[in-house]
Amino acid sequence: MSRTIAILTGGGDCPGLNAVIRGVVRSATLTRDWRVIGIEDGFDGLVGTPRWRELTLASVRGILPRGGTILGTSNRGNPLAYPVEENGETRLVDLSDQVVKNFHDLGVEALIAVGGDGTLKIARALQEKGVPMVGVPKTIDNDLRGTDVTFGYNTAVNIVTEALDRLHSTAESHQRVMVVEVMGRDAGWIGLEAGLAGSADVILIPEIPFDMTAVCDAIEARKARGSKFSIVVAAEGAFPIAGQKVVQLTGSENLGVERLGGVGAFVADEISRLLHVETRVVVLGHVQRGGTPSPFDRILGSRFGVKAVELIEQKRYGRMVSLQGRQVSDVDIIDAVDSLNLVDPDGDLVRTAEALGVMLGRAAA
Ligand code: F6P
Repeated sequence: MSRTIAILTGGGDCPGLNAVIRGVVRSATLTRDWRVIGIEDGFDGLVGTPRWRELTLASVRGILPRGGTILGTSNRGNPLAYPVEENGETRLVDLSDQVVKNFHDLGVEALIAVGGDGTLKIARALQEKGVPMVGVPKTIDNDLRGTDVTFGYNTAVNIVTEALDRLHSTAESHQRVMVVEVMGRDAGWIGLEAGLAGSADVILIPEIPFDMTAVCDAIEARKARGSKFSIVVAAEGAFPIAGQKVVQLTGSENLGVERLGGVGAFVADEISRLLHVETRVVVLGHVQRGGTPSPFDRILGSRFGVKAVELIEQKRYGRMVSLQGRQVSDVDIIDAVDSLNLVDPDGDLVRTAEALGVMLGRAAA
């Protein structure tokens, strides 16, 4: 075995992570005879005593249809601001030098970091400190720049669409308004695309602050047209005009990561208060991230894994694999993390939705 490479999965899990791991291990070992090790629990596995394991063909056998990540992950383990408990208090400490040393002590040539915005920012910072890095874009939210799409997103849209199809029949039978809260903290891609595919009547996304009166008017207008039920999709990051995102835990209460949730209940309460109709709230939550990846995400994850190994072979470090059109290519990691990929409020998808009569929460002109 000539070369050793490592892979880790960081941030929230997402369907397709195992496809990437398998793609890396199979292409590195079968076609190059390289050794691959897996760092456990994201960058956490390089803090303190490193936690890692050999990844062989046997370790990746049968994992393609499995959700989650066989390596574990963490969305709290930023080594540049690592939470350390001292005298009952939590301090954030920069442990990046320790992580860099641990990495080099493992005798590894390069690290493949599979993750979203947070993980890739850490990867970029560690690359500056001398860890040769290749990034792979992951997130169900699809909010990363530098790639047309992240893996995991397609599966999440399928899950939400299926839920919307199921909710239609019960909403119709009971003549209720069903409010479905979906993930999407900054970007409304899941809500918008699944809402379109699942024929939602109202779709609320973070990019378009919503007007409750306009939402209620749309439900009333629908009723006047003979539809006595409505389906409202609300991305967790959606918020009312002159209001704020609904936060369950602030960053300081939750180790630097704001936990969103509750906009669905807010919208449902407002609709019943203003229209005196029966409402129900369904929070799809982590169901959207769990379970088997769609065929699209299995294939995209596999392609990304294979491409990541190619980049290491060519010593093109600091790059992130990316899908551009139908082609897998690569971009500088910085291009993916310097801003978010958000829904364009005046873009084609939004215009299509509005032309179809879907209410996106805008106040009447
Ligand atoms: O970034 C993906 C995501 O699913 C967001 O949509 C959501 O806000 C967040 O992760 C939830 O993370 P956690 O697993 O920490 O609750």
